[in-house]
Amino acid sequence: MTPLPRVFVALDYANAADALALAQRLDPRACGLKVGKELFVTAGPEPVRRMVERGFAVFLDLKFHDIPNTVASACAAAARLGVAMLNVHASGGKAMLTAAREAVDRAVGPPPLLVAVTVLTSLTDGDLRDVGYDGDTQSLAVRLAKLTHACGLDGVVCAAPEAPALRRAIGPGFKLVTPGIRLADAARDDQARIVTPEAALANGADYLVIGRPITQAADPVAALAAINATLAKAAA
Ligand code: C5P
Repeated sequence: MTPLPRVFVALDYANAADALALAQRLDPRACGLKVGKELFVTAGPEPVRRMVERGFAVFLDLKFHDIPNTVASACAAAARLGVAMLNVHASGGKAMLTAAREAVDRAVGPPPLLVAVTVLTSLTDGDLRDVGYDGDTQSLAVRLAKLTHACGLDGVVCAAPEAPALRRAIGPGFKLVTPGIRLADAARDDQARIVTPEAALANGADYLVIGRPITQAADPVAALAAINATLAKAAA
């Protein structure tokens, strides 16, 4: 299987035309594409099929969280779309994670990477107390990442600053997917904890999810090329 690209461009668009217009300009050898809830709810699976047909590795970021049977069916349906990566919430528990793993393994064709969201980075320790958990976000993230690993999933989505702790807790081979990436001199937008692409790599990230620094750039193709050049230099 060809390795997945390091950078997944987050196509946070409200309509298929805008998402596909950008996809049209990008090269599937230079990046993967991330499709999230807004685009999927608006436009359904058809844009994803078109991206897959064009040769893109697609990360279907729908963060499934439901009873095991429902999540397993959703994961199987996502795998049938031919996506390269999909995700679930680790807090769905062992039975749900295991059911997702088994459904993806049973899928025809190359299995997508199955990763889990541990603790949403928007949540604070106070939010966790409100829902009945007395610990802090960092220790819950490590605990849920260990559960994810024990259930045989391929990795987790995490903020880049958390990546070294997760790598230490779980070891090599477990995929770390990190959003919250900004270029050194760029606007933070609404991201509170940001790192540069090369810092994310140094922290142990395997895949970088990057949205606005590419999608809102005057020249998205050039912005992606510059990021890939920085990553290639950092990895050399
Ligand atoms: O535009 P930007 O680079 O901030 O986009 C980051 C993408 O990663 C968005 O699609 C956002 O929803 C997603 N994401 C995130 N933080 C998380 C999980 C996902 O920014 N903790």
